Amino acid sequence: RAGLDTRIIGRELVFFDETDSTNLRARELGDNGHPEGTVVIADRQTAGKGRLGRYWASPPAVNLYTSILLRPPILPYDGPQLTFLSAVAVARAVEEIGGLRPLVKWPNDVLLGGRKVAGLLNEMNAETEGVRYIVLGIGVNLNMRPEQFPDDLRYPATSLAIETGREVSRLAFARALYRHLDSLYGEYLTSGFPPVIRAWEEMCDLIGRDVEVDCQSRLIRGRVEGLDTDGGLLVRAEGTLEKILAGDVRPLER
Ligand code: BTN
Repeated sequence: RAGLDTRIIGRELVFFDETDSTNLRARELGDNGHPEGTVVIADRQTAGKGRLGRYWASPPAVNLYTSILLRPPILPYDGPQLTFLSAVAVARAVEEIGGLRPLVKWPNDVLLGGRKVAGLLNEMNAETEGVRYIVLGIGVNLNMRPEQFPDDLRYPATSLAIETGREVSRLAFARALYRHLDSLYGEYLTSGFPPVIRAWEEMCDLIGRDVEVDCQSRLIRGRVEGLDTDGGLLVRAEGTLEKILAGDVRPLER
């Protein structure tokens, strides 16, 4: 277990100098019956995948690209809960290793100083009766320099080194991340989603604030109340509680 002080995460560790995408490798391992907690790490990815079919810049030697195989006894409907769990784990590791206070942004970004420092891509293999496996794909910009970011990014991005002004140990970060994931996942298996909701809400600065949501060509203005049990964002708009399942949330000027 490579010195990991964990119960589930890191039960098997598979390392690649180079691979197309750690999510693809983890899904293969999932298809081939590897146990939950199997972790894939790559030094670089040649086809790192982002959400919405985008790509994830994955230069060698600087960042963390990892995918974790889980087999939670849940219904497919609850799969998105694991995204919030991994966002909290990443944010805790950023806080521990970087000494900075990160924020989570709905649905699944982790921000430092308002800029994206990590990306999460969860993929689920399920049938109606249950989940076969879920792969948590996590990319964290650790030591990436400004010139290494792609020019066509649609959002402001940063790295831990840019924010702290010092180099971050990838090993120390990975260890911290797997430890936080392990304890959150252990708690999730016994207590379900509520503890994750509370932890996530504590790291979200939009709770209680007025926002504007672009949601399926509808513009909703209201106050964020929190996270629902299915991961939807609860926004109170003119007395009605709206649940946002997809969309872009922006704070209104204070
Ligand atoms: C996003 O679009 O914000 C999600 C990015 C997820 C990137 C990580 S890096 C490790 C894992 N392997 C991939 O191909 N993608 C995820």
